[in-house]
Amino acid sequence: MNHRIAVIPGDGIGKEVVPAGIEALEATTGRFGLRLEFTDFGFASAEYWQRHQRMLPADWEETLRAFDAIYFGAVGWPTVVPDHISLWGSLLQFRRTFDQFVNLRPCRLMPGVRSPLADREPGDIDFLVVRENTEGEYSSVGGRIFEGTDRETVLQETVMTRIGVDRVLRFAFEQAQNRPRQHLTSATKSNGIAISMPYWDERVAAMSERFPRVRVDKFHIDALAAQFVLHPEWFDVVVASNLFGDILSDLGPACTGTLGIAPSANVNPDRHHPSLFEPVHGSAPDIAGQGIANPIGQIWCGSMMLDHLGHSEAAAHLLGAVEDVLALGPKEAPLTPDLHGTGTTAELGHAIAERVRER
Ligand code: NAD
Ligand code: IPM
Ligand code: MN
Repeated sequence: MNHRIAVIPGDGIGKEVVPAGIEALEATTGRFGLRLEFTDFGFASAEYWQRHQRMLPADWEETLRAFDAIYFGAVGWPTVVPDHISLWGSLLQFRRTFDQFVNLRPCRLMPGVRSPLADREPGDIDFLVVRENTEGEYSSVGGRIFEGTDRETVLQETVMTRIGVDRVLRFAFEQAQNRPRQHLTSATKSNGIAISMPYWDERVAAMSERFPRVRVDKFHIDALAAQFVLHPEWFDVVVASNLFGDILSDLGPACTGTLGIAPSANVNPDRHHPSLFEPVHGSAPDIAGQGIANPIGQIWCGSMMLDHLGHSEAAAHLLGAVEDVLALGPKEAPLTPDLHGTGTTAELGHAIAERVRER
């Protein structure tokens, strides 16, 4: 079966890990008689900005809408364009325009990977962060008033709509109901953020009535951050507003050894629009250009893309190859420095693609 995939490498290590991701995807589709037709786009990058003084061409929406999915690296190069301009001019537009209201971010301690937390083994940490992805704290409602005076005031509203909150909660409850542990944790802060967060809690309570088999608990975000480190084994599905989900989805992968392996699926579950698959990490200017970025986040989100496109067996095969290579450890496999190895992005990408072909 053929699918058309828009590829947007973006900036920094996005441009380094995307080729490894495509190599692994092509190895997988070769094994399963599938065909992905990749089309590369240079927009949503600092280079595009330097040429055009904007992040996207005027017709980006109709261009991308024609694809079955978007395979995205990372965007952001703050020495050329301020982050809020590059991100609001690209990735955040994609999420909103294509109504990708769920951001699914699995967090798993993989075989062969050392957690910075003592005595944790594969199986101990395996949860799914379901992040609200189109509203909440990420809003463009607000502004500056009395600028330049001593009454200078800056407002930025959190927006929670009933439709927006309920649809991400329903998705998270469905995920929890379909997992063996049937446990859902809600991230809140209703003690301090006394308007939006009590509303979030109310909608969680209302939704839980429709899912009687799912055990529900909630933590304030500060305490939850601490429990991620102290008791990551407690968590199964964690549902959170946009900002809380953003923070938890960097913290979770840090507990599982490295941000470099964490994948992310920006999903439009209604399938009216293309979904977008990207690693959790950014463009990592501190290591960009050295060829040492871990490509596994990018490769794993390729597996999530295959699953989304209806090829669950191929998706599992690809993720299995990642696990096989990780399980060899840094002595036997060309793991990258964040995994205590000396391998390069390309070497690790080749090793995974080869494993896909032979397993
Ligand atoms: P970052 O995720 O780029 O980097 C954080 C740290 O993790 C750095 O030390 C980096 O070297 C390390 N790291 C990240 N990915 C890695 C990988 N694959 N292998 C090994 N190490 C890895 O976050 P940041 O530094 O806050 O942001 C840098 C830029 O990326 C900014 O412009 C930011 O806005 C942007 N950003 C974009 C996205 C995205 O496109 N989805 C996500 C996060 C940040
Ligand atoms: C992520 C990133 C983005 C976000 C930034 C770059 C706007 O951190 O995808 O997690 O906050 O959503
Ligand atoms: Mn983030």
